[in-house]
Amino acid sequence: IKDLQAELTVLRAQGKKVGLVPTMGALHVGHASLVKRSVSENGVTVVSVFVNPTQFNDKNDLAKYPRTLDADCRLLEDCGAAFAFAPSVEEMYPQGFATYVELRSDMTRQLCGKSRPEHFQGVCTVVSKLFNIASPDKAFFGEKDAQQLAVIRRMSRDMSYGIEIVGCPTVREEDGLAK
Ligand code: PAF
Repeated sequence: IKDLQAELTVLRAQGKKVGLVPTMGALHVGHASLVKRSVSENGVTVVSVFVNPTQFNDKNDLAKYPRTLDADCRLLEDCGAAFAFAPSVEEMYPQGFATYVELRSDMTRQLCGKSRPEHFQGVCTVVSKLFNIASPDKAFFGEKDAQQLAVIRRMSRDMSYGIEIVGCPTVREEDGLAK
C-alpha cells in the first residue's frame, strides 16, 4: 500500500489523473475493456487484483476462485496499465480488522443480496479501502454487475468520495452471453 501511494504521489504532482479499475483477477477481454477505457481517460491507471475474502459467503467458492496473477499482469501490460496492485490478504485485512462499510438499504437486500447476505458489505468495504489507498479521480466498473455498480455509486455519494464512478458496457460472446 505504501509503495503504491508513494508512486502515485509523485505522478499526481506531475499533474497526472489517476484511474482505478478494481478486479479480482482471472482477467479477460471484459476486464481489458475497462482498463483500456481508464487508460484512455487518465494519465495513470491502477488495476487492483485482489480476491476479496469478505465478499464470499461460501468458503469453498473463495478457495476455488481462479488466481492467475502472471497472466493478469501480461494482459494489463498489453492494455497500458501502469500498476497492478496485488496486495496480500494480511495487508488488506490486518489482524484485528473490525471496520466495515455497509449500505443499509433495500438496494443490498434484494436480488443478489437475498441469497448472499454480507456480500455487498464485503464489496463496499474493499472498494472503500481501494478508494482510500489509490485516491483515484475516476473508478471503472462493469455494467454487467448492475447491482454492484448501483451500490458503489450510492456508497461513493454517501461517503463523499468525490470520485467519478464510470460504468462500462458489457462485453459479450458472439451468442450474446456476457463475458
Ligand atoms: O466485481 C468485482 O470483481 C469485485 O466485486 C470488486 C469490485 C473487484 C470488489 O472486490
